[in-house]
Amino acid sequence: MTSRITTDEIRADEARFAIPTYAQLPIAVVRGEDCTVWDADGREWLDLYGGHCVAATGHCHPRVVAAIREQAGRLLFYSNVMANDCRAEALRKIAATAPEGMSKVFLCNSGAEANEAAIKIARRTTGRREFFAMRNGFHGRTMGALSATDLGHYYEDYQPGVPDHRFLPFGDLGAAQRAVTERTAGILLEPIQSMGGMTTATAEYLQGLRDLCDRTGALLAFDEIQTGVGRTGAWWYGSHAETRVRPDVITSAKGLGSGVPVAAVIARDEIAAKVKEGDQGTTFGGGPLACAAVSATLDVIRDEKLAENAAERGAEIADAVKGIPGVRGTRGRGLLLGVVLDRDAKGVVKSLRDHGILSGSTPGDAAVLRILAPLTLRSGHVARFAAALRKVLA
Ligand SMILES: Cc1ncc(COP(=O)(O)O)c(C=O)c1O
Repeated sequence: MTSRITTDEIRADEARFAIPTYAQLPIAVVRGEDCTVWDADGREWLDLYGGHCVAATGHCHPRVVAAIREQAGRLLFYSNVMANDCRAEALRKIAATAPEGMSKVFLCNSGAEANEAAIKIARRTTGRREFFAMRNGFHGRTMGALSATDLGHYYEDYQPGVPDHRFLPFGDLGAAQRAVTERTAGILLEPIQSMGGMTTATAEYLQGLRDLCDRTGALLAFDEIQTGVGRTGAWWYGSHAETRVRPDVITSAKGLGSGVPVAAVIARDEIAAKVKEGDQGTTFGGGPLACAAVSATLDVIRDEKLAENAAERGAEIADAVKGIPGVRGTRGRGLLLGVVLDRDAKGVVKSLRDHGILSGSTPGDAAVLRILAPLTLRSGHVARFAAALRKVLA
């Protein structure tokens, strides 16, 4: 199926009318189904980039689409000024996936907004201002989230940011123990720094941060905007059997609504109890359409065992690329995977496109090729990727 206008025409219109904030691929996407997307010229792409880590249930999963269609015909929107059946269901379902004792949820619209809310919750519930995030971490483009983002030019260009925001070297528990005190409001980190190069926190490091926060009263927040909703093989990173570290707050977005914009802050009950009416709010947060997408997404991930599939396919990719000349190893977990190369990944990402495969690079480590595939990925896709990678690297 082709769209009415060509890739070149669509790209020319975007270039003419959009404020030029994005470096775009030379593709105009018009349709998607499961792990495949099609461009305006009818070309088919295997989407290992997952629509930017968003298409958790695959593109246009029929159950998600049906839920959105049904809700669109019933009630598109009403704000939090009134309760709503769809919102109640989505809140209950998110809470059911969360670690024990984390049954309170604030719904908003984007990852950055969820992190803003987490930072405010840390301030409100501790009465402190000093806030730590990690070097090479990424938390979003609004000023609070940006002030917790130490990656490339994103924050550098917009200094000064929020006062009393500081950075810790990721993975260095000693440095955290020296810096975090009774003056600290909170620590925010990604369990896997995806944009930073798929650097993965160890269970000992996460537990060490948990102990440190318990000792100092600082709030521990996991940014699970990429790691969450099953992508690494468990609903949330701290739920993995060998990790079992319960943060005080989890932020989620990306795959949570399978592509309908929605984000969530999941908080420990005692923390949520300290939040006051009016502390946080957003018109569109928890709208019925987004909540229908959330409920259907979580149902599909559970019913189709997509977290389990993500763990298996991730291990299968790691296995399949091992031994390919030019591959140094893999980082990350499940379908949040970095293939470490002996060369710049950008050129390899481009060459993989010649084989009809979409993947990503990272600003944090030039040698890392990123896989953020739909959690519905199958073994056939893995084999196709490995064969193409072998050819490209040869
Ligand atoms: C780990 C992480 N946190 C936060 C964000 C910001 O999310 P959003 O773009 O929805 O604001 C992103 C986006 O890529 C992310 O990867």
